[in-house]
Formats: sequence, C-alpha cells, structure tokens
Amino acid sequence: MKILALNGSHRGDQGHTRFLLDRLASGAISAGAECEIVSLARRKINRCLGCGQCQTVEHTLHCAYREKDDTAAIFARMAQADLLIYATPVYVFGMSSLLKAFIERFYGICDCAELRVTQSGLFFHHVDAAVCSKPFVALVCCDNLENVTPHGVVAYFETFSRFMDAPQMGTLIRNGGLLCGHGRDPSALERFPRLREVYAAYEQAGRELATLGRIRPATQRRANQEIVPVPFFGILKNLRPFKRVMVGRAQQMIGGH
Ligand SMILES: Cc1cc2nc3c(=O)[nH]c(=O)nc-3n(C[C@H](O)[C@H](O)[C@H](O)COP(=O)(O)O)c2cc1C
Repeated sequence: MKILALNGSHRGDQGHTRFLLDRLASGAISAGAECEIVSLARRKINRCLGCGQCQTVEHTLHCAYREKDDTAAIFARMAQADLLIYATPVYVFGMSSLLKAFIERFYGICDCAELRVTQSGLFFHHVDAAVCSKPFVALVCCDNLENVTPHGVVAYFETFSRFMDAPQMGTLIRNGGLLCGHGRDPSALERFPRLREVYAAYEQAGRELATLGRIRPATQRRANQEIVPVPFFGILKNLRPFKRVMVGRAQQMIGGH
C-alpha cells in the first residue's frame, strides 16, 4: 500500500496538520505501508490562471505551467499512490488557499470537451482518473470547537468524491487545535488527557489504511472526539449559557481585555 499525503498547511512541516499526518503515517508505516508526505508549502504551485490553453485543440491538456512548477511532478507521485490524504487547516471556514490552488490545477489534466456521467450519476467531464479518482481520506484541523467550523471543507470533499469518482475512505476532523497546543506543547496532554486517545486513534487509522484501505467508523469517532474533559461537552457546547461561561474562563486564561 502506497500512501501519499498532501499537506495543505502554509506552516508546512511546523504545523498542526503535519503533526497529525505524522501520527497517521507512523501507524501506516508500522503496518507495512509506504507513506510519503508532500508539504505543498515547500513546493512551487502556481495558481491556475484560467487561461484555457489546456482546453484548446492545439495544446490539449498541456498546462502553460507544466514545466515551470512542481505540480506535474506531484501529479506523477499521486498516480503511483494507492491512497491519497488531502490534509488542510480550516482557513476562514474553507480549506487553505494552498490546497485549493493545487486542486484547481486538476483542470489542466481534465478534458472538459469530453462529457460523461459519473458513477454517482452526475453530469461531468473527463478527469485524469489516475490522479483525480484515487481513494482518499480528508484530514481537516481547526482551532474553533464549533461543529460548523469544518463543515465547508467536509462538504467540499464529499462533493469532490462524487464528481471525481474518488472513493472517500475516511474523514478526520481535529478541532480545538489551540487547546492541543497544535501538537507541539507536551503540557496539553496533561490538561487534555483524551488527546492521548486521539493520537492513538490516528495511529490506528494509519494501520487500518495500510491493511484495509479505509478507516473504521469506531476509529474515526475516537480520532474526532471532543478533547475538553467535561462530561457531555459535545452537547453542552451547543448551549448559549454554557458558552458564555466558557468564553469567560478562556478570557481569564489568556488574560484578554
Ligand atoms: C488565515 C487563517 C485563517 C484561519 N481560519 C480559521 C477558521 O475559520 N476557523 C478555525 O477554527 N481556525 C482557523 N484558523 C486556525 C487554523 O485552522 C489552525 O491554527 C490550524 O491548526 C492551523 O494548522 P497548521 O498549524 O497546520 O497550519 C485560521 C488560521 C489562519 C492562519
């Protein structure tokens, strides 16, 4: 099993996204998979200009940037992989502009003049299945604790899966990144003991990807669980008076105005 993870964090190897990917990769490697993490922040990824050259008869599927940045080389790595991980922090309710810019470059390997109906019954055009239709996992992290925060990204990948005929093999959502110290603060493990279970679930998810090619629902639930050690926090956090108390306490902790 060859797993290729695309890290869409602008913080690259220093960020929370990378920390979580490392947990996943460590599990996958321990179960015999090959696992490569590509930090898009360290690569040259030009934005699609919408110039349309790739859709002309003279230059079919030849992107104007093909020899000028790293996108084609990453596409080649993707084609060799059995499973992809699209990993991104939430940036203003969506995926990072870095990952989005990379995915937009799929346009240059899709022949829009060749129409078809996808397996899920949607009108679409040809896609380069070796790159775009790979089984994948979405990994999303954010700081906020609200369930609605990652919705945009999660919904995006569900739509992506249907149009690209790419089977989605799991969705990992880590909220409360600031509380977790973005994985870099060991004292967070003392304040939020459930983090140990979360990180163990990431390693387990990696092992399952290596052996089964998907993340089991129970493992995904453990990885995505709330970390705040308050009973029924997942329900309480939706109540306005509880939120006000939490905000007050958090404000005291960070010494805000
Ligand atoms: C420009 C920008 C926008 C962000 N927008 C949100 C947001 O809408 N909701 C949220 O919960 N966190 C938001 N964050 C926080 C990041 O999602 C969070 O810190 C994440 O862990 C960063 O991952 P990284 O360390 O791998 O870059 C934002 C961060 C930045 C820099």
